[in-house]
Amino acid sequence: MLLTGRIPRHIGIIMDGNGRWAELRGLPRIEGHRQGVERSKEIIEISAELGLKVLSLYAFSIENWQRPSSEVTTLMKLLELYLKKEIEVLSKKDIVFKTMGDTQRLPEHIQGIIREAVDKTTANRGMVLNLALSYSGRNEILRAVKKILRADMKPEELTEDVFSSYLDTAGLLTPDLIIRTSGEMRISNFLLWQAAYAEFYFTDTLWPDFTKDEFLLTIQDYQQRERRFGAISVRVDAP
Ligand code: IPE
Ligand code: IPE
Ligand code: MG
Repeated sequence: MLLTGRIPRHIGIIMDGNGRWAELRGLPRIEGHRQGVERSKEIIEISAELGLKVLSLYAFSIENWQRPSSEVTTLMKLLELYLKKEIEVLSKKDIVFKTMGDTQRLPEHIQGIIREAVDKTTANRGMVLNLALSYSGRNEILRAVKKILRADMKPEELTEDVFSSYLDTAGLLTPDLIIRTSGEMRISNFLLWQAAYAEFYFTDTLWPDFTKDEFLLTIQDYQQRERRFGAISVRVDAP
């Protein structure tokens, strides 16, 4: 499929449905997560090829820490394997790797691998892959508020731009499009501040079945939307 229109600059994806994908096949949930990782690789690759500036992937929420410890441990193992194997590939594609979230809650060794991956790709100039790990929007906002209080800022100095610069997404464009797979129509604490004017796309497809082709269709759908940002005339980009 050929895409001719405008490509969103920042896409966020709530990659949901791994567990159900596995359960439907009589497989353990972890198999769904494994397939989900494969799908993520495909979507990262096509996003970079399309020329996206930022791709934010919701991989693990703060609320996901409540899952059974066996599932959390396997998810952490998958994350470790992914980072160890893929960072070279990301680097070759000129991708900048970063994370958002309360990453101090992640196991020590994973924090180390993340630091390495960030360092290794920091000088790259291509798409930013922003992985949400131990992330929740409310927690991000609260951490930002705490940093601002510590900075002893005067109330008049606090503008929306200044506030944004204290969020984990500082320096990144706001999302144009947020996709959620698996049929759930909720935001589940993803990019609460940043999504103020994002377009949303919900699909029943479970994440391990979300192909490159469906991703392109999603972008095509986005290209038909009229983004008004509260005004009357059409604006093409978020403020
Ligand atoms: C999304 O799939 C991946 C994570 C939240 C880690 P789920 O594990 O939530 O899969 P479902 O929603 O139970 O099918
Ligand atoms: C959202 O999915 C988090 C991720 C995709 C990482 P969940 O499966 O955790 O969300 P809920 O519980 O359906 O809202
Ligand atoms: Mg889920």
